[in-house]
Amino acid sequence: MATTQSGKGTKTVFTLNTGDKMPGVGLGTWQSKPNEVREAVKNALLAGYRHIDTALAYGNESEVGQGIKDSGVPRSEIWITTKLDNPWHKRVPEGIDSSLKSLDTDYVDLYLMHWPSSTVPEDLKKHYDDWNFIDTWREMQKLVGTGKVRNIGVSNFVISNLEKLLNDPSCKIVPAVNQIEVHPNMPSPKTLQYCKEKGIHVTAYSCLGSTDSPLAHDKTLQSIAEAKGKTPQQVLLMWGLQRGTSVIPKSVTKSRIEANFQLDGWELTEDEIQKISSIPDRFKVCGDAWLPVKVFFNEEGDGGDVPSH
Ligand SMILES: NC(=O)c1ccc[n+]([C@@H]2O[C@H](COP(=O)([O-])OP(=O)(O)OC[C@H]3O[C@@H](n4cnc5c(N)ncnc54)[C@H](OP(=O)(O)O)[C@@H]3O)[C@@H](O)[C@H]2O)c1
Repeated sequence: MATTQSGKGTKTVFTLNTGDKMPGVGLGTWQSKPNEVREAVKNALLAGYRHIDTALAYGNESEVGQGIKDSGVPRSEIWITTKLDNPWHKRVPEGIDSSLKSLDTDYVDLYLMHWPSSTVPEDLKKHYDDWNFIDTWREMQKLVGTGKVRNIGVSNFVISNLEKLLNDPSCKIVPAVNQIEVHPNMPSPKTLQYCKEKGIHVTAYSCLGSTDSPLAHDKTLQSIAEAKGKTPQQVLLMWGLQRGTSVIPKSVTKSRIEANFQLDGWELTEDEIQKISSIPDRFKVCGDAWLPVKVFFNEEGDGGDVPSH
């Protein structure tokens, strides 16, 4: 089933290949410090967000769960995404149970394989000899139908790894989502096109360019933002949505959380989108040097794992 997009701005909804509807704008929570993320999640939900992105690896699922409770917004109205951590690939049932317990919820809307790296828990520099992401996906597929996950997907998958996964006979479920780094310095057009053809929705992470983003000072972006009376961050989010990706900006600052959700009643022209897509600099926030296995290659013609900024 193809993925589709409806609505605009904060009302953007992506219908996944399972038929489930995911809100287009979510709150990211990576690097949100302890004692910050609970408040951030509450503030986001009170500002109207209905999608929260977290991960076992972020060590903040309990606080995210508390923030959800604090908001008073019913669980049924909220899309929660969490992720299986690399050292848990051989322990998928334990991984989801751990996340559900921390989040204090019965199910997650989307469960992602965080990285295509099956890391040995006792030695994080080592990849298993007898296990890879295809084995992990086989286990994740078993979660569907348990009631614990509504959708399963992947993250940080390049085209060649998606090909390996989709072509394996054990792959019965096409990932609903591939969550990857996408911003004007890493626009990833080939991966977006490939995912579209396969019915895999793309969520753009580090959509603002992450911590200390150089994009905030980019001249092209600044002039478009000024002309529209918007902030560069609002323009970046709109660029992401209009390119067909969901966006999950992270902030722990109440005013920024609110500003990042002011995306209604305006949009970018094709020309503006094109100008932003043509910003020439390339960088990756999240490389693969820390993993025991390479996961990024030169598939976008950008040198593969291009240096972090
Ligand atoms: N799947 C993966 O491997 C993966 C990897 C990376 C990220 N992610 C997900 O994607 C989310 C977003 O990516 P990210 O955290 O790397 O970065 P991001 O959302 O691109 O940027 C976050 C940074 O921008 C700042 N910011 C937010 N809104 C702003 C505004 N309106 N004006 C100025 N600055 C603003 C934040 O500061 P304050 O917080 O101080 O306000 C923070 O420093 C993550 O939180 C995580 O949920 C997933």
